[in-house]
Amino acid sequence: MSQDQYAGRHVGSDERALSQMLSAIGVRSVDELIGQVVPSTIRLKKPLALPREGMSECEFAAHIREIGRKNKLYRSLIGMGYYGTASPAVILRNVFENPAWYTSYTPYQAEISQGRLEALLNFQTAVVSMTGMEVSNCSLLDEATATAEAMAMMFALRSREAVREGRNVLFVDENIFPQTLDVLLTRSEPFGIEIVSDRFDCYEFTGSEFGAIVQYPAADGEVRDYDDFAAAAHSRGVLVTAVADMLSLALLKAPGEWGADIVTGSTQRFGIPMGFGGPHAAYLATKDAFKRNMPGRIIGVSVDRLGNKALRMALQMREQHIKRERATSNICTAQALLATMAGFFAVYHGAEGIRRIALHAHSHAVVVADMLEKLGYELKTKNFFDTIEVAADAAKVREAALARRLNFFYPDEGRVRLSFDELSTLAEANAVIAAFAEAAGKKAPALKTIGGQDRLPVGVRRSSAYLTEPVFRNYRSETELMRYVKKLERRDISLVDSMISLGSCTMKLTPAVAMMPLSLSEFADIHPFVPADQAEGYRELIDALSKDLATITGMAAVSLQPNSGASGEYTGLMVIRAYYQSRGQGYRNVALIPASAHGTNPASAAMAGMRTVTVACDERGNIDVDDLKAKATQYASELCCIMVTYPSTHGVFESRIREIVDIVHDNGGQVYMDGANMNAQVGLTNPGYIGADVCHLNLHKTFAIPHGGGGPGVGPICVAAHLAEFLPGHSLAETGGRSGITAVAAAPFGSALVLPITYGYIKMLGESGLRRATEMAIVNANYLAAALKDEFGIVYTGETGRVGHEMILDLRDFRKLYGVECADIARRLMDYGFHAPTLSFPVHETLMIEPTESESLAELDRFVESLVAIKRECEQIRDGEADAEDNPVKMAPHTAQEACADTWTHPYGRERAVFPLPWIQANKFFPYVTKIDGGYGDRNLCCTCGTLYGGE
Ligand SMILES: Cc1ncc(COP(=O)(O)O)c(C=O)c1O
Repeated sequence: MSQDQYAGRHVGSDERALSQMLSAIGVRSVDELIGQVVPSTIRLKKPLALPREGMSECEFAAHIREIGRKNKLYRSLIGMGYYGTASPAVILRNVFENPAWYTSYTPYQAEISQGRLEALLNFQTAVVSMTGMEVSNCSLLDEATATAEAMAMMFALRSREAVREGRNVLFVDENIFPQTLDVLLTRSEPFGIEIVSDRFDCYEFTGSEFGAIVQYPAADGEVRDYDDFAAAAHSRGVLVTAVADMLSLALLKAPGEWGADIVTGSTQRFGIPMGFGGPHAAYLATKDAFKRNMPGRIIGVSVDRLGNKALRMALQMREQHIKRERATSNICTAQALLATMAGFFAVYHGAEGIRRIALHAHSHAVVVADMLEKLGYELKTKNFFDTIEVAADAAKVREAALARRLNFFYPDEGRVRLSFDELSTLAEANAVIAAFAEAAGKKAPALKTIGGQDRLPVGVRRSSAYLTEPVFRNYRSETELMRYVKKLERRDISLVDSMISLGSCTMKLTPAVAMMPLSLSEFADIHPFVPADQAEGYRELIDALSKDLATITGMAAVSLQPNSGASGEYTGLMVIRAYYQSRGQGYRNVALIPASAHGTNPASAAMAGMRTVTVACDERGNIDVDDLKAKATQYASELCCIMVTYPSTHGVFESRIREIVDIVHDNGGQVYMDGANMNAQVGLTNPGYIGADVCHLNLHKTFAIPHGGGGPGVGPICVAAHLAEFLPGHSLAETGGRSGITAVAAAPFGSALVLPITYGYIKMLGESGLRRATEMAIVNANYLAAALKDEFGIVYTGETGRVGHEMILDLRDFRKLYGVECADIARRLMDYGFHAPTLSFPVHETLMIEPTESESLAELDRFVESLVAIKRECEQIRDGEADAEDNPVKMAPHTAQEACADTWTHPYGRERAVFPLPWIQANKFFPYVTKIDGGYGDRNLCCTCGTLYGGE
């Protein structure tokens, strides 16, 4: 008998359920439905050139282990932003490997997200405390992009006078990681920012600078005193960003104490595996005065309807959804899961533990440095935390180190750099010394003990306390932490509870077997800058995956570097820009963007230095082709591209897409396709076949990487042949095109550790399974549309009356008819055990529903029943059977605390409130808080957990 096939498990419904759904939709077969949904002009004529059948789960598990074995597990003391760390098993098992944590969505629906909101608040609190700043966001993509965000923030914060003076110089100290400088170069150019890189201690401000960036400790490990530098910068109206290693701040004076205005960095060494470069959470912390200019999400404390403390994302008006092309950042998906883990790491270790780990790394560096000096080596770094640089014959040291399975960093032939960390041991220190001794042709002295050596100079030493909040003291035993994690987990809805039908987000199943390689040391513990022969497994996986993604999208080449969809958008646009520049047409800078586009599209275009021109949509939600023609012609001489989402964000396959592509091409522009909706294309059509020149994919949507509560994401770009040579490169690894743009992310292959998920998804589904997944996503959406259209109305359908893989339910007259807002319906769904669909995007007062192929008919029916029941509750308000204000819909959600209280004041019953349908009792999810007052939290902004625990 053949082995169990994943393809059959990935889709939620079996043949019997399928035939029921088809008859409810009113078609005889899947083919008939697909024929009505996908325009025939863009249907692929032959199957994708992938193996037709996928591997079984057993085959994949064995196959991926075999690939993993091709990565060599050396101990990497390379540093450069990536360090060894002991990920506590209690966090790995209960968070990283736990679908309740990794399958949740960005916490827009705050009432059913209190667990991850608290975990992220802990992260922010840890960052604020370690950096000595006043506010932190709850993660950015990586250290390099976070520093680029700080640059954009400082630029946006220029005074009126500075703008008038045209201040556009950013000073960057030369002792900064090359990958950070690279990303700064990429991101600065479209803004017209000039980067001046020099030594901070020699630099004289000229009056043309708006900002300065220094690294702390510097790239070579030196800990510098930036007090005077910051004062000099401030005296010239220049803001200062410190790129700081979070762990070092346990011993070093906090940047907030020496005058930094913004602090960025990575939290990788707070328990997150190196994973060949990511994913890891970066942070950005700043002063309260600058909070409205901060990129990314900020978690804040507010109150709910009953006056209880409740968390939600604060200051949402800063986001690109609202600001669109005026936004200075396009960050959307970030690194929530990794921030959650780093936050738990701080909770588990507390101040004492973090200090111990920092001192452990420092003392190993001190002792080894002493020994190397005794061996006659010149130490380049004088004051250091964990990293030392030594003058040495790099080739000889490298040979001796590799023989001991040790990796160091070699900036040039005469220097060697090495970083110690939480994993350093006495034996390893002796091996390091032995390698240097051998290179010097001397006998190696042996160390007997290491512990507590501390050689930091007084001027840079930290004296202030950190991690003083109760949460960093109360969960130090494994039992306590395990229960704390569980307590928070129970407050959230994730895919382990029920369908999350968020339109445009594709919350599908992540195969458990594809998550398993992430925990293997052979994938988790590889430094991104190891010699190529130590990462052959990764390279094989990256090459094979890139090839498969090129096949699926019909494109010629792929870059896996961008760490989110929005980052992919930016990268794709920068590649287009480089293409035009290479042809002497750098003046082409107009991006046409349909009115229905996601906010990240105009924000990315602005960041790529483009001017956006909005193209209207018609009454069916399609791009108004006449308006497009008019604008493309009007701007023909400057036209750079169109950014089009397909199927559209209205959930419809526009039949005139080929015409749209031709209009743009005929007017000299390129076609950028936002791949957020690729789940409706795979195997049926593709961007290349439609005529796009570049697209990004969201591997965290279509290709099964879980959303992690707001990241990690992977946003590769796939490009046609003429753009391949411009794909982004990297200064420390071979990747990208011949004339590639500079890096867009810190790591050469972005979030490489999560790539086995997509790789496995494709390998296990094969061509037929991938196509089937798309077909079933469309079947499920059309089944829901058939079931709900008479109750709610569907805002947009295609010419045949069908929807694509998602649909928009029309609630625009609910306020008038029932006095109920769309957000009330979203909250009432929580009482029924469901996460709300996408709220008011892309059309105000609507719900966009995307069921995905993974949901079963039974789950779809429960969802339909719930929505219809809520509609009835609305009708009771209209008919006077329920109070206009105090009714189950407007009071939703209802907590266990309220339902069980001795007093119950509502005119409707408790059972009605919390068990509105019979089957809910068997699997009840109780929201931990009720309706949250977002405005209160914004007026009284608090982004750390100090007040959350009160006097605890
Ligand atoms: C249509 C569309 N484009 C772009 C994005 C941004 O993607 P990401 O959140 O991965 O940055 C989204 C996110 O939901 C989206 O729906």
